[in-house]
Amino acid sequence: MSGVQRLDWISHPAGALHGDVVVPGDKSVSHRSMMLSAIAEGTSHIRGFLEGEDTRATAAVLAQLGVSIESPSAGERVVRGVGLHGLRGSSKPLDCGNAGTGMRLLTGLLAGQAFDSTLIGDESLSKRPMRRVTDPLTKMGAQIDTLDGLPPLHVHGGKTLHGIRYELPVASAQIKSALLLAGLYAKGITEVIEPHPTRDYTERMLAAFGWPIEFSPGRAKLEGGHRLKATGVVVPADFSSAAFFLVAASIVPGSIVRLPAVGLNPRRTGLLEALRLMGADIQIEKQSESGGEKVGDIVVRHAPLHGIELPETLVPDMIDEFPALFVAAAIAKGRTIVRGAAELRVKESDRIATMAAGLRALGVRIEETPDGAIIDGGAIEAGAVDSHGDHRIAMSFAAAGLVAKGEVVIRDCANVATSFPGFLELANSCGFALGLAP
Ligand code: S3P
Repeated sequence: MSGVQRLDWISHPAGALHGDVVVPGDKSVSHRSMMLSAIAEGTSHIRGFLEGEDTRATAAVLAQLGVSIESPSAGERVVRGVGLHGLRGSSKPLDCGNAGTGMRLLTGLLAGQAFDSTLIGDESLSKRPMRRVTDPLTKMGAQIDTLDGLPPLHVHGGKTLHGIRYELPVASAQIKSALLLAGLYAKGITEVIEPHPTRDYTERMLAAFGWPIEFSPGRAKLEGGHRLKATGVVVPADFSSAAFFLVAASIVPGSIVRLPAVGLNPRRTGLLEALRLMGADIQIEKQSESGGEKVGDIVVRHAPLHGIELPETLVPDMIDEFPALFVAAAIAKGRTIVRGAAELRVKESDRIATMAAGLRALGVRIEETPDGAIIDGGAIEAGAVDSHGDHRIAMSFAAAGLVAKGEVVIRDCANVATSFPGFLELANSCGFALGLAP
């Protein structure tokens, strides 16, 4: 949990969901827009910025490092960039809150600065592996101390970085992005090769800020020593936040929900394909491009779902959507098998274990495997589950509660504010019956 106040929810069974559901801005894009604007030359305007705790933590860190950031209205930021070498060190720790993306990308950015920095995080972030980022950064010449591979991270300043060619051992946009950000400060070429293509927002945004970069699915390459020029950024609605409504409307009979202007970067929409394989009725309407990203309205209608063997190639494209998928699988007819998703064990919680414990508490048959799960769909009973402070788990169980045979109590939901402020109100506006537990 976020440390402030413990918050539990009760989700009641509900009738058909209806309406337009406008989900908040994309978390990945918001983090990156803040970081690149901060080290660009000139003033950048960001629209659609996610007002979540994670992205606000990143903005607060950059402000602590001397960047002026104004917020004329919700979702809007005006960032006066200080240029590549204009950040000023802070003697106080830089608090990334719950945000793995914030901490890992900032580590890359800070590795090339003249000053020392210490990055800290909350209880969950303090348990997440950081060597995946600090090892390759060390190969680039950085010096970073960890606590046995975990935060806090002490990033030493004044190091001369040099570019490397690095083959990622796991498909991770966070590692790739950390190396590319360090690469801005490095001598020579930094090249990253991925075992499977991951979200390419850092690459696209670097290009939009005028940094020469070559990239194609699965690889990215840039050279140090250029400049970033301020620009406008329009953040699309977050597909990962839309995901809970895709599942909720799919499983509640009679539902029809429209999710306007959601980002449809193909490296994010694996859940759409997985749900369609399960029989879901999901249409994309009003497709357009905004800020270089594909966006569209997603229209989802209830449909009977059936179990599938999830193609492993979809895993990286839906890495944040497994809690929602597990709920769909729990209500689908037959068996769903997930493999090749061991990364779920090192997210905001161990998402395989947390989902398995929660679904079991609701009477679902689920077998955990080291890199996935086998879920036998059927009915969802009433009961109590613990989200372990994991925002996506809490919201997924809120969707499960819609079709349960009674109340579902969901414990430890405060961290939903990290990625989806206003979830409870928005969910209720389309027909959820979700409230705070006494
Ligand atoms: C993210 C990358 C993914 C994802 C996370 C956001 C990003 O993490 O799970 O929520 O913005 O780059 P990994 O890089 O660890 O897979």
